[in-house]
Amino acid sequence: MSRSRVLSGIQPTGTGKHLGNYLGAVRHWAAMQDEFECFFFVADLHALTTTPDPAEQRDRTRRTTAELLAMGVDPSRSALFCQSHVPEHAELAWVLGCLTGFGEASRMTQFKEKGGGNVGLFTYPVLQAADILMYRPQSVPVGEDQRQHLELTRDLAQRFNGRYGETFVVPEPYVQRAAARIKDLQEPAAKMSTSRGGPGTLWVVDEPKVITKKIKSAVTDTGREVRAGDDKPGITNLLTILSVVSGRPVAELEVAYEGKGYGEFKADVAEAVVALFEPVRRRYLEVMQDPAALDGILKQGAERAREVAASTMTTVRERVGLLPAT
Ligand code: TRP
Repeated sequence: MSRSRVLSGIQPTGTGKHLGNYLGAVRHWAAMQDEFECFFFVADLHALTTTPDPAEQRDRTRRTTAELLAMGVDPSRSALFCQSHVPEHAELAWVLGCLTGFGEASRMTQFKEKGGGNVGLFTYPVLQAADILMYRPQSVPVGEDQRQHLELTRDLAQRFNGRYGETFVVPEPYVQRAAARIKDLQEPAAKMSTSRGGPGTLWVVDEPKVITKKIKSAVTDTGREVRAGDDKPGITNLLTILSVVSGRPVAELEVAYEGKGYGEFKADVAEAVVALFEPVRRRYLEVMQDPAALDGILKQGAERAREVAASTMTTVRERVGLLPAT
């Protein structure tokens, strides 16, 4: 029996990925490779919605690919590719766009939050639906913020199937809630985020001494007990981080740190995060030293992805009534 299929994508970013991205998504991608047939890609077309400088865009795409490899995406088991190398994505997005209501697209909260902008931003979720449906995955591991886009994807799959016959698999979102709770170290009321950056964000490729410094300077709360609670957002965040990284429940950590101060606790959190990211950083630097090998990996990934994408598009074209080209 063939393994069930998983797909996910991530936008290329200049600063790289942070602890929340790792714990919320990429860690699970790496873990899913044993059990599932995986397709992972860098969403470089989606990134164009912010019209980055071209050299910067290329650099981000390579760096994000290197980070994914460093975080454990294994190109010998999974297809790792760049979205724009599979032009079928944009083609399917057009077809799905013709099945998407204007009002439906207008209701997407991410679009509304960005306050207008270009048409690419408006149709962003339709391209995302195309990314997903193309490969007929059963499951799509994403962060909590992508839930609405996944809902639209499911609606479009059902609409297409209802109108043109069973074509797409209606995918299940696989959302990691724990990681949604990773907060900024300096502003524990807010999510750790790429756009905020700064000393409250732990980048996957931060040097160990930078990680240690950021954690030791994390804002803490009044009192001196290491326990979670609404009145202690800073310590709660650090407990969440240590818990997710070490696999030990928060309640157990609270007991372990009874009678100990913030200093000792923070030192342990720092040590745990450094131990997690040190090998990632080393692999990242290695991969970045060989851009030709990296491009080769993307090429091989795109070849695998295109086999599936070409076959999906042959079916889609036929189903919607486009004449065959030959
Ligand atoms: N929108 C996603 C994000 O910002 C990235 C993305 C693009 C994606 N296409 C996708 C995620 C398809 C999952 C599946 O995180």
